[in-house]
Amino acid sequence: MCGIVGYTAKQAVEKRILDSLELLEYRGYDSAGLALFDTDTEQVEVRKCAGRVSDLRDLCGREAVHGLCGIGHTRWATHGGVSDENAHPHRVGCVTLVHNGIIENFEEIKDHYGLGQYLFSQTDTEVVAALINSFYNGHPRETIRRAVRCLKGTFALVIMFDDHPDVIYAVRNVSPIVAAYIPSGTMLASDVAALGGQADRYIVVPEYTIVELHKSAILLYDEADRRIEPEYYDIDWDTTRDGKGNYPFYMEKEIMEQPDTIRRTLAGRIKDGHISLEKDGVPDQLLADCQRICVVACGTAMHVGQLGSELVRKILHMHMDVEYASEFMYMDPVIDEKTLVLAISQSGETIDTLEALKYARRLGARSIGIINVRGSSIARESDYVMYTDAGPEIAVASTKAYTNQLAAFYALIGRMAVVRGIFDREQEREYAENLLQVPDKIQLVLNRRAEIHKIARSLLEAKDAFMIGRGMDYSILLEGALKLKEVSYIHTEAYASGELKHGTIALITQETPVIAAVTQDDLRDKELSNIREVQSRGASVTLLLREDIAADGIDCDYIFQLPQMPSLFMGFPASAALQLLAYYVSSDRGLDVDKPRNLAKVVTVE
Ligand code: AGP
Repeated sequence: MCGIVGYTAKQAVEKRILDSLELLEYRGYDSAGLALFDTDTEQVEVRKCAGRVSDLRDLCGREAVHGLCGIGHTRWATHGGVSDENAHPHRVGCVTLVHNGIIENFEEIKDHYGLGQYLFSQTDTEVVAALINSFYNGHPRETIRRAVRCLKGTFALVIMFDDHPDVIYAVRNVSPIVAAYIPSGTMLASDVAALGGQADRYIVVPEYTIVELHKSAILLYDEADRRIEPEYYDIDWDTTRDGKGNYPFYMEKEIMEQPDTIRRTLAGRIKDGHISLEKDGVPDQLLADCQRICVVACGTAMHVGQLGSELVRKILHMHMDVEYASEFMYMDPVIDEKTLVLAISQSGETIDTLEALKYARRLGARSIGIINVRGSSIARESDYVMYTDAGPEIAVASTKAYTNQLAAFYALIGRMAVVRGIFDREQEREYAENLLQVPDKIQLVLNRRAEIHKIARSLLEAKDAFMIGRGMDYSILLEGALKLKEVSYIHTEAYASGELKHGTIALITQETPVIAAVTQDDLRDKELSNIREVQSRGASVTLLLREDIAADGIDCDYIFQLPQMPSLFMGFPASAALQLLAYYVSSDRGLDVDKPRNLAKVVTVE
């Protein structure tokens, strides 16, 4: 997703802008650019190109720019393809700007105000630059407000005006902007990561508030142009990335970090066999009173909910709705004040999840966010937040965030079981003990990653693959399938084993490898017979099998025995194995594992 940076200082800014853009690379992008008020030429200079930030850095080396005030951008293409012309910043007349979001009515604006003659790109953003330029009367805030009133859609706009060379202006609707004082000046960005550890607190720019970045002051103006005092959030976590270490890709590093990070996530929530959410401030009464639970999330985060719904059914004897956040607002959901909505998100910035959460709260729901990035938009929108301690997750494919979110979810449901009188003291203790075992069980899988690497080689030539399982195994495989397809580009479908024969088994041939999971005691026999069904159609089968479950009579191409845990907890070791499988297929295919094609780490457009 697009990344934005603005920086004005008493020293040259170009290096800091480029460094900050690199810190935003994890969001996913396909072109990059910057604009500075150049102190030599005394005009705004733009440098931009399709490609990586490193390409932009080379361009700035060849065509040097020097300035004390500038903006930068990494673009994830929405309107208009990947090209130098479509890269940001866009400059029209005396206005230069970058944008994160989608302007839905940009064509109408272009036609209504006759802006086509000023445009060189296919982007909605350049239309906004032309609109602001056409309105400009020498008063930036007045002009910005007039232009913003014309816009429909989401935006974080960061703007420079030629006749205000030391000031950066910004305004947002939904798409995030944070601002902060740093030692040499002031800065704004799409998220805290871009500050690069230069600040210990930051401001979240309120929607439709105009922020002015001066070298020694950050000024906020509300819609009536009244100065408002900023609200500060402390940066009490490590925002710096400690690099890949000895790993070739962040994805492998983050898979290997899971045991330690899950220990951190569970610390303070499990003490002496007790499950407590005191550190999160989640009131027991909320957990006792809610009559419905509904998860809103996307992608991997949504799969936490899928697996979690099995847990809720088996532990709380409740049904839990798990909804695609992007669908939620359009499905007339049954939500009221007795509904507890769980917004699950690694980044805390996924716009679909944010908007779904806002919608549910408008309908009266109470909410808990299960979030990895502190102070993020979804965290701020939630009534309560359970932060995971996975640390920065850089690879686009989510791995440690998933298992950490699962761990937090299990703690939440465990606490609910205690509060609702479902767990007695012994059951709570046993559940807590099993949860504390998770890191070690995952470690056992990680220690055998060479076996998984060997299995991965059997998938390298596949174009299609299937993952089959029943019950919780099916939920586990939904995430396993997403992992494999998003980093290896093998079209992978997870299927409830018993459902396969109702049509999809027509696609099973010797060309379609099948990965089966059998971790649930009570489903063993049925799952094994489904395996035989695909084998009889020629499919090779890799079986992920809980080590204490007998597989007599089953002859699979590979059997990877998973360390034993009670059935309810098997999602953890199984997911670690599936993450490694996806990783090795992708890396052995020579793909850019951390930055798969077309994908963004944070999806801030609907
Ligand atoms: C998962 O590997 C993907 N990167 C993607 O599905 C991701 O989980 C989804 O976009 C949700 O992101 P979030 O957790 O930051 O909200």
